[in-house]
Amino acid sequence: MRRAVCPGSFDPIHNGHLEVIARAANLFDEVIVAVSTNYAKKYRFGLEERIEMARRTLSAISGIIVEPMGDGLLAEYCRQRGASAIVKGLRSSGDFDYELPMAIMNRQLTGVETVFLPAEAHYVHLSSTLVKEVHDLGGDVSEFVPRSVMARLAERSAGDAGR
Ligand code: PNS
Repeated sequence: MRRAVCPGSFDPIHNGHLEVIARAANLFDEVIVAVSTNYAKKYRFGLEERIEMARRTLSAISGIIVEPMGDGLLAEYCRQRGASAIVKGLRSSGDFDYELPMAIMNRQLTGVETVFLPAEAHYVHLSSTLVKEVHDLGGDVSEFVPRSVMARLAERSAGDAGR
């Protein structure tokens, strides 16, 4: 059984995440979408909401589990869950510069490998931060997020942050 972890805040999950997770599910027997909690970060959506949005969105794809990652080391989480790889999408050389030291560190910590998947061209500019900002300022983000996330964005204003 080859198991991978796709970690992230998913605040909220968007179509760029979905695309990478779906491709990871084609490469591995099981993919754990691990929703992180970082107490230094201010989230728009609480952990349970972020998990629920991801579960709803990914329910049609088999071999995917969505669960909380906690606030500890990702490498240790992967070891505990028996995952041999972390899968990350790369949108730019900036992503690569940010991710490479973490990939090396994670491998040195527990031996977990990191697999980078190039982002699909249509989503290469996408981030949860940009989705929230464009939506808050009245722009249409329906092309970039699942329908259930659109509904959540509509009911949650910028000042109404969750944990
Ligand atoms: O969606 P995000 O916020 O960019 O996801 C960040 C995440 C969860 C991948 C990152 O914060 C992370 O790896 N957290 C675990 C903490 C950790 O292991 N730090 C050491 C990295 S070598």
